[in-house]
Amino acid sequence: MSSSAARVLELPASSFVPPAPVPQPKPLGVVRLITSLWRNPLECWAQDHFDKPIVVGGLPFAHVVLVSAPRAIEHVLLDNAGNYHKDALQRRVLSAGLGHGLLSAEGEQWRSQRRTVAPVFARKTIMDFAPDMLAAAEALVARWRQQDGATLDIAAEMTRLTLDVLERTIFSDGLGRGPEEFRLAMRTYFDTIGRIDAFDVIGLPPSVPRFAHWRVRSTLRYFEAAIDDIIATRRRRMAEEPNAVARDILTLLLNALDPETGNHMAEIEVRSNILTFIAAGHETTANLLSWSLFLLSQSPEWRERLEAEAERELHGPPASLGDRLVETRAVIEEAARLYPPIAAMSRVALGPDDLAGTKVKRGSLVVIAPYVLHRHRLLWRDPNSFDPTRFLGDARHAIDRYAYIPFGAGARTCIGSVFALQEATLVLASIVKSFRLMLAPGTAVWPLLRVTLRPDNGLPMVIEERRAA
Ligand code: HEM
Repeated sequence: MSSSAARVLELPASSFVPPAPVPQPKPLGVVRLITSLWRNPLECWAQDHFDKPIVVGGLPFAHVVLVSAPRAIEHVLLDNAGNYHKDALQRRVLSAGLGHGLLSAEGEQWRSQRRTVAPVFARKTIMDFAPDMLAAAEALVARWRQQDGATLDIAAEMTRLTLDVLERTIFSDGLGRGPEEFRLAMRTYFDTIGRIDAFDVIGLPPSVPRFAHWRVRSTLRYFEAAIDDIIATRRRRMAEEPNAVARDILTLLLNALDPETGNHMAEIEVRSNILTFIAAGHETTANLLSWSLFLLSQSPEWRERLEAEAERELHGPPASLGDRLVETRAVIEEAARLYPPIAAMSRVALGPDDLAGTKVKRGSLVVIAPYVLHRHRLLWRDPNSFDPTRFLGDARHAIDRYAYIPFGAGARTCIGSVFALQEATLVLASIVKSFRLMLAPGTAVWPLLRVTLRPDNGLPMVIEERRAA
């Protein structure tokens, strides 16, 4: 975004500054850094990080380069991406248990999978899933109608909803014989593998059993076996009645061919990718929806604008709805700017490089933090204020592609971004059309970074049905 354009624009009166840690006046010393990293990594950032395009330093045992200059980010994630691999901690934390899935694969295995899976997540395919997303939202609204006036943990409600959407779009013909047991195992599985383990931080290999995994090992095995059963059943049905099978993500994945080799994915890759989509897609999208609902509850003007848009647009062909809910989408994009569910990404440099005059050494840890980038003083006008107009009309087009990266960028950009944005838009519109959500009295909302950026201690809100349109 050009800074002169930013200077002439006035901030709308309706904007406000939502809760976030005040940056440390100076970079933290080693002991405080490590304790803050453990407690809430969001509280480690210092003012310099939000003021300077590139900051070197941080951890005593690594050469760390925090990059917030859009051209340098483009260089790392796109132009010279071959020189930067995902670092081992990030891969272990994000992908423990996901084996050979797209998120954790590198080299030729990743390239082949990405080529094979790309059409499954293409915009046109995802538009066909709009009715499933709306059906999940309608089920939520119907359930909430029985609880009008209650205080609910909206963070937990959104997690339940995003799992429902994945269930409807991946396994549309059901979960086999024990759906409730499957759902319970699924929640345990992702609660367990999504946690950072002390063993991960000190770098023990995945072959050393993690305590959290050990406690629930039979559930984890049950869940992986249940996925294998569903895949086997689907394969049989595809062979017996190819025209009668559901056209969901599982069928698309089993049919997908690598356009270069003509090969299907191996059995283990199909399972790993199904697990990857659920792991990468449910908590992230749930957090995005939770933050959007929280921000709306603090802004009567935007709440009313979205209610009016939902009443006007929420009908007709579901596939084009995402494009018509323009203001709903702007609120979601602003929520992803202020509270990006993936708040930081890291890469290890395989060889030396130069980033806007800063030397990168072989083995340097290059950190790109959407949380810092999206609140950077050189890139955003009044960066800490909630103002969805940044994402409307010409203002949206003026944003540098590498200054706003909630879904990453370059070769390893999120494959599920169209899915996530469509889901969040349809669900948010469905909720605001039927309910007003207010923060429960006495609640102090605070962002906590634990793999994803979530409201600490959940998000208790009072749900109130809107009766008259
Ligand atoms: C609001 C929701 C989401 C956010 C904020 C998000 C964010 C991200 C980010 C930042 C990356 C890049 C990580 C890096 O470069 O280190 C990523 C990668 C990925 N995401 Fe998402 N994601 C979301 C939803 C989803 C969904 C719904 C799916 C699938 C159903 C998904 C599947 C993936 C996969 C498979 C990758 C790895 C891609 C690759 O390495 O080729 N994500 N996501």
